[in-house]
Amino acid sequence: MFDIITFGSATVDVFAETDIHDLKEERKYVGYPIGSKILLKEIKFSIGGGGTNTAVAFARLGFKTGYIGKLDSGFGGKEILDLLKKEKVGFLGSIDRNNSVNGGYSIILDSKGNDRTILKYSGANDFLRFSELDTKKIQSKWIYLSTMLDESFRTQEKLAMKMHKNGTKIAFNTTEYQIKTQNIRPLLKICDVFILNHEEARLLVEEGDILRGLKELGPKIVIVTNKDKETLAYDGKKIYSITPHKIKVVERTGAGDAFASGFVAGQIIGKSIDESLKLGLEESESVIRSRGAKNKLLRRNLKK
Ligand SMILES: Nc1ncnc2c1ncn2[C@@H]1O[C@H](COP(=O)(O)OP(=O)(O)OP(=O)(O)O)[C@@H](O)[C@H]1O
Ligand SMILES: [Mg+2]
Repeated sequence: MFDIITFGSATVDVFAETDIHDLKEERKYVGYPIGSKILLKEIKFSIGGGGTNTAVAFARLGFKTGYIGKLDSGFGGKEILDLLKKEKVGFLGSIDRNNSVNGGYSIILDSKGNDRTILKYSGANDFLRFSELDTKKIQSKWIYLSTMLDESFRTQEKLAMKMHKNGTKIAFNTTEYQIKTQNIRPLLKICDVFILNHEEARLLVEEGDILRGLKELGPKIVIVTNKDKETLAYDGKKIYSITPHKIKVVERTGAGDAFASGFVAGQIIGKSIDESLKLGLEESESVIRSRGAKNKLLRRNLKK
């Protein structure tokens, strides 16, 4: 029996740092000259994706953790499996043995200044069928769903419904893109914890009170993050809030994943909403103080 299983994307992230300058006066575009070779100043690789980021977060907090996702059987898939093994996360997903499609990649073009352009390829992440899962092995107190699309989203929904019936608690962290392209409403009805940011919340609750509007969609607890502004939580009885500290943001990739995993970790060990919000804040602040979504995820045993 796992404490928590995360179900979400896995990608190989390639960070390419260039010296290319801003071409336009309004500083919105970066130009890459056609037909030329651009020497990179630096290239770095890391494993990303909401599913693996959160699995690593939970494992480092001392939980028995599993991960469900779809990998390719080539270079990327192998790197992801190695990382999961190193971080003591059990792999419960599927590997595309025929390599009919590549695994997920993000190419992060980091130009002068600190903003970047991301070229994203979802690849295998979108194609996990329910029949590929060995459901006998998928036994857990909690399941954490992070954004997936199409076939994989339908698999998430089907699995969550089945596990919900058997008493597994469900946490769900969505994104703008998922809200716009998938029907997430049936899933919200069975969620124990639903976490999203303020803009995403406004897409679901177009007018009126956001927290009450979200609660009406079904989740037991809703959490709305809002960058460096107050994060709010609501359980139908009381509104809770926590304000981020003023910190120097080095790189905010993975802030949302980190907050959500910290909060859910608190819930797994039976902490109050206030205490769980604190854990979410600590986890997200640790991550945005340095580069990389996983590097600074906290290591401590919450089960002790
Ligand atoms: N500038 C900041 N200063 C301090 N804390 C921050 C800042 N930005 C984000 N955080 C922390 O990270 C949490 C999640 O951030 P945010 O609301 O940006 O989520 P998100 O938009 O879902 O992020 P992501 O793009 O990673 O999915 C916030 O609740 C806060 O605790
Ligand atoms: Mg987010």
